[in-house]
Amino acid sequence: MTRKPITLITGANGEIGHGLIRYLAEQTNTPNIVAFDLKPLADDLLPLVHESIVGDILDTALLDSIGERYQLDTIYHLAALLSTTAEKYPELAHQVNVQGTVNLLALANKEAHTVKFIYPSSIAVYGLPDLDTKYNNPNIPEDQFLHPTTMYGVNKLYCEHLGEYYTKNYGQLDPTTKPSIDFRCVRFPGIISAFTVPSGGTSDYAPEMIHAAVQGNDYACFVREDTTIPFMVMPDAVQALIQLANAPSQRLTQRTYNVTSFSLSASDFAQKLQQTYPNITITYNPTPARQAIVDSWAHSLDDSCAHQDWGWSPEYDLDSAFDTYLLPNIEAHYAQYQLDAV
Ligand SMILES: NC(=O)c1ccc[n+]([C@@H]2O[C@H](COP(=O)([O-])OP(=O)(O)OC[C@H]3O[C@@H](n4cnc5c(N)ncnc54)[C@H](O)[C@@H]3O)[C@@H](O)[C@H]2O)c1
Repeated sequence: MTRKPITLITGANGEIGHGLIRYLAEQTNTPNIVAFDLKPLADDLLPLVHESIVGDILDTALLDSIGERYQLDTIYHLAALLSTTAEKYPELAHQVNVQGTVNLLALANKEAHTVKFIYPSSIAVYGLPDLDTKYNNPNIPEDQFLHPTTMYGVNKLYCEHLGEYYTKNYGQLDPTTKPSIDFRCVRFPGIISAFTVPSGGTSDYAPEMIHAAVQGNDYACFVREDTTIPFMVMPDAVQALIQLANAPSQRLTQRTYNVTSFSLSASDFAQKLQQTYPNITITYNPTPARQAIVDSWAHSLDDSCAHQDWGWSPEYDLDSAFDTYLLPNIEAHYAQYQLDAV
């Protein structure tokens, strides 16, 4: 039986999955995307994919059946439990984030041809020991301060290494074994989408604050006002995945690349929003455990390797992110929501 060549997207119904499916579907008239998620794919995305499979990445029989029916050319492995959820359920997170990734790598490795395996890692791989160290070490490159304090960060860092292992060293004792994986990893900052509201992450205070402000609601922020981490908006996150996937192999000098756009404190976010929405009140009510997690994450990232190797550059800086992407789209979204409710 000839197998249809496809792009498999796990975690397809998540925030990045939504942005990625829309982008990929716009690029071609023939949808060759197979979406995979624990939850059914949103109705408006269904016409954009060839098939939507509801299932668990821990179900290896189901994964094998996908490999039997389809030829896997590219895998965007997005399915994961995010940082706050992972801290609530650490063993489950280990299963989903690590064993799930091993299952997908093993599935890709069954192909006779090379499979591009695109993986989103996170600033959670960093572990700054204290605030002085954090603020005295801006623009951290890929290989420093890799002492994650969360299960999620530990999982992500290990999976970065797993991907490299499967690409370079898998089966190294057997001369007849040829690894069939081309693992490429983007290490993301916090991502903010105009169209979806996140849950389960520890950078969620930023998108929550923006979505609350646009609706005219006050917001109690779960971190201190000085808390600073890097961010980018969803179109740039999707672009980073696509650009790294399309980069010529010979240009890549490493497997994991930092990408970033702007670093901002929680109070900078609040001030930026209050310029447009002067009547909202933002208060700070830090949750100690979540505060400790973001305090351990990098203040800002050095993404010069991605610039040099595959021409990465974010389209949106701080001002254009707010003025041309976030605020207009979120306002339009809630205006439509109010119309629909009438
Ligand atoms: N959003 C961010 O700020 C951010 C930052 C850095 C890295 N990332 C990474 O990007 C990826 C996607 O993030 P997101 O923001 O879209 O997350 P999300 O939580 O919105 O989506 C994750 C999706 O994975 C699915 N999923 C969870 N467990 C599963 C399982 N066992 N089997 C199948 N599907 C399962 C969920 O149903 C969900 O739809 C994740 O790997 C995340 O760690 C995200």
